[in-house]
Amino acid sequence: MPQRMPEPMSSLSSTVQNRDVRQLGINPNHWYVVARSSEITHQPVGVTLWQQAIALYRDRTGKVHALEDRCPHRQVKLSHGQVMVDELECAYHGWRFNSAGECAAVPYLAANQKLPSCKIRRYPVKEQDGFIWLFPGEREPSVEPLGLPEWEHLNYIATVSIINCQAHYSYLIENLMDMYHGHLHQDLQAWAEASLQDIDEDIHRIDAHYTAQSFYKIDKIWSISQLFFPALRRLHPEPLDVSYVYPHWVSTLGKDFKIYCLLCPVSETQTKAYLIHFTSLNSFWRLHKLPIWFRRFVKDSLFGAAQKLLDGLVIQDVKMIEEEQQAYLQNPARRSYELNRALVSVQRLMRSQVERLK
Ligand code: FES
Ligand SMILES: [Fe+2]
Repeated sequence: MPQRMPEPMSSLSSTVQNRDVRQLGINPNHWYVVARSSEITHQPVGVTLWQQAIALYRDRTGKVHALEDRCPHRQVKLSHGQVMVDELECAYHGWRFNSAGECAAVPYLAANQKLPSCKIRRYPVKEQDGFIWLFPGEREPSVEPLGLPEWEHLNYIATVSIINCQAHYSYLIENLMDMYHGHLHQDLQAWAEASLQDIDEDIHRIDAHYTAQSFYKIDKIWSISQLFFPALRRLHPEPLDVSYVYPHWVSTLGKDFKIYCLLCPVSETQTKAYLIHFTSLNSFWRLHKLPIWFRRFVKDSLFGAAQKLLDGLVIQDVKMIEEEQQAYLQNPARRSYELNRALVSVQRLMRSQVERLK
């Protein structure tokens, strides 16, 4: 049998270029979102990011830590245990691990025994803008989390919806970058008549510029009620910009709305994501003159104002995305037909992000 020669770089590149996008891995050298801040307490929580089980917990000072969710003693999940004096204690035999992942205590260690030298992986983790950002790369992070400046800003009202879909992350990003699917959401009146104008593209992001009709105009404080009462809505043209800022997604519709989708790809056929919708009060100029406590009160009491809309959009999108994945699994070779050139750019970015790891 002739021996297989190692592949030269150029043919490796073309292998990645030709590889099915539905089987692409992720570039781990980015910050992914693994939980909302409010989900993480002193009780450990298990999450999964691209097949890696991770235990998240807070120490006494409230700082969040992320450790591999595996006790090296008998390989059970550490997230079933508890936090004891800032250490993560396994539920089974009570071994404890510090935030560096080192075994710090074994309750039945004999006087003549040393602590086992086993160590589990710790992940860089940050709490920022209401979310827990985790860096799964092997090297120390050289980039910052995307961040959501509107989360704390008093002029923005937030709504959060969680996406759990049984599909590869590429289906979700393509759904979010293809504004022609407003057709699916006609009954929810999110946007209408999208038309792609222009695409900007580099190695980190794709910006697709559409024009569209918006149903909402948030120019007075009472106009927030358009989110609840369809009869108050009026169609009018607005720029609609959608960006794939690898690995996340950001969009703006006119000056009134900004939406983020923060990704946590779980596996090749499962994706979790957090959709965050901000309604801007910027054009209500009198608001700026009101006391901070009152503005905070308005922001907090209107939290979730777009919940019905956002949850409705997610249900409709997830159904389509999961059907796409199922159809792919049944017949991976079947060709699809695409007319939106933004999706060509999106697939190119996904591939090049993975190719950069080679
Ligand atoms: S399995 Fe974790 S302490 Fe034994
Ligand atoms: Fe959608």
